[in-house]
Amino acid sequence: MPTLVAPAIPSGALASTGQPVLPVGADALLRPWLLTDASAVREAFRDPAIQRWHVRRADSVAEAQGWIEAWQSEWPSETGAHWALVDPADDTLLGRVALKSFALHDGTAELAYWTVPSARGRGLCTRAATVVTQWALYERGFHRIDLGHATANHASCRVAEKAGFEAEGIRRRAWLHADGWHDVHVHARVRQD
Ligand SMILES: CC(C)(COP(=O)(O)OP(=O)(O)OC[C@H]1O[C@@H](n2cnc3c(N)ncnc32)[C@H](O)[C@@H]1OP(=O)(O)O)[C@@H](O)C(=O)NCCC(=O)NCCS
Repeated sequence: MPTLVAPAIPSGALASTGQPVLPVGADALLRPWLLTDASAVREAFRDPAIQRWHVRRADSVAEAQGWIEAWQSEWPSETGAHWALVDPADDTLLGRVALKSFALHDGTAELAYWTVPSARGRGLCTRAATVVTQWALYERGFHRIDLGHATANHASCRVAEKAGFEAEGIRRRAWLHADGWHDVHVHARVRQD
């Protein structure tokens, strides 16, 4: 069936190039995931804060490898892009930033992130989220990046604000976590911002 509007991002435009490595200043780098990151991912998911807001834990390195394989598969299928945030000096895992749920026709995606406890509180997540968002909006044709967090997750809200994501409203009782239903604060950055 013919479409009446050309897509914001033509099919194949992303996968025809490799997923990029994105510098985040002198102390961090975003690179595609490697299966050898699995131990560090498993360790990160021992953190109660990551478990609380991501609603899962890894019980084995093999399980974490399965997550990484799923993250790796999204770039070639143009459904998402997932990066490991690492220290460029020694490749230590500092966190994760992802663009999920690509909708190429509308040029939209959804930002997600976590940082390991030892990397928090120095602006790292904000800088990495900003780098990924600017890459998507100004280099790769995305038009709007969504970001949602539980209203009780105040640190995530600060990251969203500092990275320039305007607050748009509340989705009431939209996420089920171990402690019950959570309202979700909806933010977004659009290319015109
Ligand atoms: C949310 C998270 C990614 C932030 O990572 P980070 O690298 O520390 O982020 P930044 O340093 O860029 O910014 C954190 C901001 O939150 C603030 N903050 C931290 N804890 C807070 C709290 N309990 N209440 C309010 N603000 C808080 C910090 O003060 C900082 O803001 P400031 O620069 O105005 O002082 C990290 O805490 C994390 O991984 N948490 C667990 C997983 C998670 O919540 N992921 C997001 C799911 S939507």
